[in-house]
Amino acid sequence: MKWLALFLFSAVAVVQSSQRIPKNWPTPVYDISDDNLKVEKIHLGRLLFYDPILSRDGTISCSSCHSLYNAFAHTDHALSHGIDDRIGRRNAPALMNLAWMSSFMWDGAINHLDMQALAPITHVDEMGSSLPDLIDKLRGRGFYRKKFFEAFGDSTITGQHLLIAIAQFSSTLISADSKYDKVMQGSDAFSDAEERGFALFSRLCADCHIPPLFTSNDFASNGIPIDSSLMDMGKMEVTTNPADSLLFKIPTLRNVEFTYPYMHDGRFKSLYDVLDHYNDLKKPKDKRLEKIQLAENERVELVAFMLTLTDREFLFNQKFAFPKELLQPRE
Ligand code: HEC
Ligand code: HEC
Repeated sequence: MKWLALFLFSAVAVVQSSQRIPKNWPTPVYDISDDNLKVEKIHLGRLLFYDPILSRDGTISCSSCHSLYNAFAHTDHALSHGIDDRIGRRNAPALMNLAWMSSFMWDGAINHLDMQALAPITHVDEMGSSLPDLIDKLRGRGFYRKKFFEAFGDSTITGQHLLIAIAQFSSTLISADSKYDKVMQGSDAFSDAEERGFALFSRLCADCHIPPLFTSNDFASNGIPIDSSLMDMGKMEVTTNPADSLLFKIPTLRNVEFTYPYMHDGRFKSLYDVLDHYNDLKKPKDKRLEKIQLAENERVELVAFMLTLTDREFLFNQKFAFPKELLQPRE
């Protein structure tokens, strides 16, 4: 027992967010050390994440489109639904391990976590507000003046502090406790089908969905054709470089069991639909896709492996859930 405890202790590092991060993970891009993260800032970020006060008419919160039980993706619609029932152009991605990401959005439009929340707050199809309007509203609330003071030692609410608080909460959404992680740490074992699926995955998929984060944080075309009603050009919309046409951010596959529908426009409903797509590709632009050929039993094994990326500790983590404080009467 003593040996096991020692092993577990050395296999994971503990951070302020009280998340356990396996030792073999790369260094995060965003500072999640005790020096930077503060419990009160994280808590304020969580309140803001769940509070519809962030939208112009008080109807939409971040969690309207990013639901904990779907690893913060949204499963009801392919394209996100925002204020005034406006339909966006893209599928809300799952949110996890954001501290390891250097670019955000399907096209990489945002390159720092601290700036990310500004996009949905101000987007006409999402929350339809503006930072000055929102700051005015928050300044009128004694509840938030107190919370900002606890977090930043200053009761003057600023846009910068608001964005930092949301980024700190977002950076604590760490998923590192799936069956896959346990197998890698030697405390669990794959079934035969999962083991074969892992071998297939390592050979066919891991060039882009690189473990342990299951993304390279890069952009690629996985061969899906453009949807002519959306005309989404992906990364080229940001860089205007034709070489970036139809390149999209490679999504993580952690918790992929619960993050359907899939792809930037939510076109596929199931993992089998995704595998059919990869299997049926003819002459893909990206050479890394050429080798994908799956027999019927291999499809089943690959899905069995992907299901080992489900992390129930994450999906049911009450630290990430709706804060009951928001239901209490407050000024
Ligand atoms: C109306 C639905 C909607 C709301 C509300 C919303 N989001 Fe999103 N979110 C999306 C969509 C859609 C994308 C992808 C946008 C794109 O690629 O252009 C996204 C992308 C993101 C990303 C980037 C993830 C990645 O891997 O690149 C983060 C982080 C995020 N949202 C956090 C938030 C936060 C924090 C809030 C609240 C301030 C919020 N979202 C509100 C729909 C929404
Ligand atoms: C060339 C790089 C590349 C390879 C190889 C690759 N993918 Fe992908 N994958 C992507 C990109 C890029 C997307 C997002 C595309 C989009 O939304 O337009 C994606 C999306 C996905 C999604 C949807 C995830 C979500 O949250 O929407 C799944 C599931 C997936 N890939 C599984 C696999 C599997 C399984 C393999 C191997 C059989 C594989 N991929 C091989 C680049 C790749």
